Amino acid sequence: MNIVLLGYMGSGKSAIGKFLAKNTDLDFLDLDSFIEEKEGKTIREIFSDHGEVYFRKKETTYLKEVLETERKKIISLGGGTPCYGNNMDLILEATDHVFYLKASIETLIGRLEKEKEQRPLIKDLNKEELPEFIQKHLFERNFYYLRAKHIINVDKKSIETLSGEIQSLL
Ligand code: S3P
Repeated sequence: MNIVLLGYMGSGKSAIGKFLAKNTDLDFLDLDSFIEEKEGKTIREIFSDHGEVYFRKKETTYLKEVLETERKKIISLGGGTPCYGNNMDLILEATDHVFYLKASIETLIGRLEKEKEQRPLIKDLNKEELPEFIQKHLFERNFYYLRAKHIINVDKKSIETLSGEIQSLL
């Protein structure tokens, strides 16, 4: 069964996934990178050229594709992936190894303030608007994220610790 990592933007899905893949000798697949490769555009370009609805449709199509493939791997999702259509049902049907990387609002604000440029949903928000946006958005999205089988608190923990925690639950 695949191992799926989900959580809000900036929660560390890709970094932890890569590290975990090295440690477990499994392949790693980042859904955003997969979409970029398939579409021949960056996520930012997909949003600006075609809009968010187009992106969400593609995201569901490629999610199905990556969940279906035979070889066991670690998949990190985009922050919004579990929250559209019946994506969360598809994920939970495909595997028991679903991990929500749960970061506090403070952690997310700190990280996303520094790296919002590549993220179409928050790139135009200023420093004052960002905290309220994240708080409201995370509140809505937790409805989906909290359906994950495992919830891993990521605040103030090293990648090594987090990877160990996940491995102990496999
Ligand atoms: C999104 C998160 C992004 C990317 C897209 C939309 C979201 O992925 O899929 O910009 O809706 O939260 P990361 O969580 O990897 O930044």
